[in-house]
Amino acid sequence: MTAKIINGKEIAEQIRQELRTKIAALKARGITPGLAVVLVGEDPASQSYVRMKGRACEDLGLYSKTIVKPATTSEEELLTIIDSLNADPRINGILVQLPLPKHIDENKIILRIDPDKDVDGFHPINVGKMLIGEPGFLPCTPHGIQEMLMRSGNDPEGKHVVVVGRSNIVGKPVAAILVQKAKGANATVTIAHSRTRDLGSITRTGDIMVAAIGSPEFIKADMIKEGAVIIDVGSNRVSDPSAKRGYRWTGDVDFEAVKEKASAITPVPGGVGPMTIVMLMSNTVLSASRAHRQDI
Ligand code: GUN
Repeated sequence: MTAKIINGKEIAEQIRQELRTKIAALKARGITPGLAVVLVGEDPASQSYVRMKGRACEDLGLYSKTIVKPATTSEEELLTIIDSLNADPRINGILVQLPLPKHIDENKIILRIDPDKDVDGFHPINVGKMLIGEPGFLPCTPHGIQEMLMRSGNDPEGKHVVVVGRSNIVGKPVAAILVQKAKGANATVTIAHSRTRDLGSITRTGDIMVAAIGSPEFIKADMIKEGAVIIDVGSNRVSDPSAKRGYRWTGDVDFEAVKEKASAITPVPGGVGPMTIVMLMSNTVLSASRAHRQDI
């Protein structure tokens, strides 16, 4: 079997088109959704993500504000920036790019963001709402994965989803979303991780696998079930002398081998990545419509 490729760029474009209609409806009522992105430090990967988020806003006609601060910025200074964004009516969404420099307590920063502007869905209020199935903001990558599954005809209902990885950004929330008693969910979910014994014996039982380990090409063909649906969340820069830039991007899955055994698979790049950004735009539009009590 050669897997069908789940094209994240195409699905993200579909969602972008739907957002354009909603944004036009808001603008007709004098509302322009606004997103603030805060970057502390000079990490090249973070710089590139922040640039992409700014461009995505521009492309959709959203108001965007990017605040870049040096790695030496104090926690107190960053908290003050967040306070001013919380108070700014033009801003409906606040995203602080992670990871932050080590001297800054990430949890303290996330706690300071107004939960109604927390378009990353990282504030404990929104994490709690997600867990009990109440409307809040769903984190972008896990929500994007759910959209990808649904829009590619791979409804997780009744399936065994094996999540490999237990981060607060992907592993734990994607499990919480897919296990909900709700449309696009109702899955049986197992979370495996770096301390899981005999990982392969568990991953081979997954009808759907979400690989979010952060280790290039860690998932090999003998670790998956024949016909499984593979969602590769990894984005690893590996050196490649044959590439023009001297490196290439690869996922957490050995794509070439696994695609011969899976029924569907997401590529890297062009899989989960574009979904994360469009879901951020979607949360920003949702936040603006809630702030202005608009039902769009
Ligand atoms: N760093 C890696 N992924 C993310 C994300 O989804 N949001 C933020 N704020 N930082 C990240």
